[in-house]
Amino acid sequence: MNVLITGIMGQVGFNLANFFSEQSHNVIGTYNQQVCLNFPSHKIDLNKLTDTPRNSLKDIDVDFIIHCAAITDVNLAQKKPNLSYKINTDATQAIVSFAKSKNIPIVYLSTDFVFNGFSGNYTENSPTEALSHYALSKLYGESFVKSYQKGIILRFTPIGHVNSLNHQGHSLLDWIIQSALHQQKIQLFRDKTFSPISSYEIFQTILKLIKNQQYGLYHLASQENSIYSAGKLIQEVFQLKPTVEPSIFPQNDYSKIRPKYSHLNSKYLPLFDLKTILKNLKSQRALK
Ligand SMILES: NC(=O)c1ccc[n+]([C@@H]2O[C@H](COP(=O)([O-])OP(=O)(O)OC[C@H]3O[C@@H](n4cnc5c(N)ncnc54)[C@H](OP(=O)(O)O)[C@@H]3O)[C@@H](O)[C@H]2O)c1
Repeated sequence: MNVLITGIMGQVGFNLANFFSEQSHNVIGTYNQQVCLNFPSHKIDLNKLTDTPRNSLKDIDVDFIIHCAAITDVNLAQKKPNLSYKINTDATQAIVSFAKSKNIPIVYLSTDFVFNGFSGNYTENSPTEALSHYALSKLYGESFVKSYQKGIILRFTPIGHVNSLNHQGHSLLDWIIQSALHQQKIQLFRDKTFSPISSYEIFQTILKLIKNQQYGLYHLASQENSIYSAGKLIQEVFQLKPTVEPSIFPQNDYSKIRPKYSHLNSKYLPLFDLKTILKNLKSQRALK
């Protein structure tokens, strides 16, 4: 199959591109600032023209799209709301419209941030409430994908990936590995929950959903963990020197725009096991 991945040089996009390519699918990408040398790619600045995809990509032979490109820095989105709505919302509308014009499926990657984090255990049917511009811009993006019959929305939280790109921020996994290497203590919230996965689970799920034409909204999650307990598990699986210490989710500007109990549940997909996810990541990284 021919898969178009927007944001191919982002953490998730790059990892998905590698997985699909390793399974002999043809990968085509779009990038903006980080030039992609690994796959045939097009430079498209989604901030410039909302109908760019139709113009630049109209002749591309593509079976489905995975839309990864986004403003993902929550603080930046809060400081520059217009930018986050342009990229996360308006550009998503344009890419959905491109998918519609080709009558092909589109997968949109979304986030646990669409919930207020008051209770956790959110399913696909739980009411959303955005605490930040990032979350709201992603929710608006979701609405365009939802309105398309071949749209798939995947909500998740990443813990780390097989390939880690230096120009992007550290994942929790890489942060802990780095802290162990430099023997620096780090503080992880023991009262903030999440249910993280890696890009491998996203890849597997996309393959299955596209093959079975199962469109709609899905939560991709592991069982509930605190950030601290997940950190301890990372140390155990990766056999790292202990550096993580428990801390409390603060009450300040940081926490105001982030959900506290943001672990997801799913009505449609089984939960993944975090220890297995980490063991897979460790063995996949060892092969690199
Ligand atoms: N990171 C998380 O914690 C998280 C959690 C849940 C869901 N998600 C979702 O998963 C998706 C992928 O996340 P990620 O972690 O891979 O993000 P990332 O590493 O921050 O990558 C973001 C990508 O968006 C592209 N992009 C940003 N501005 C652009 C613009 N003006 N024009 C074109 N492309 C632009 C970047 O391209 P260049 O680098 O080439 O400029 C980059 O490839 C996003 O939709 C995100 O909302 C992420």
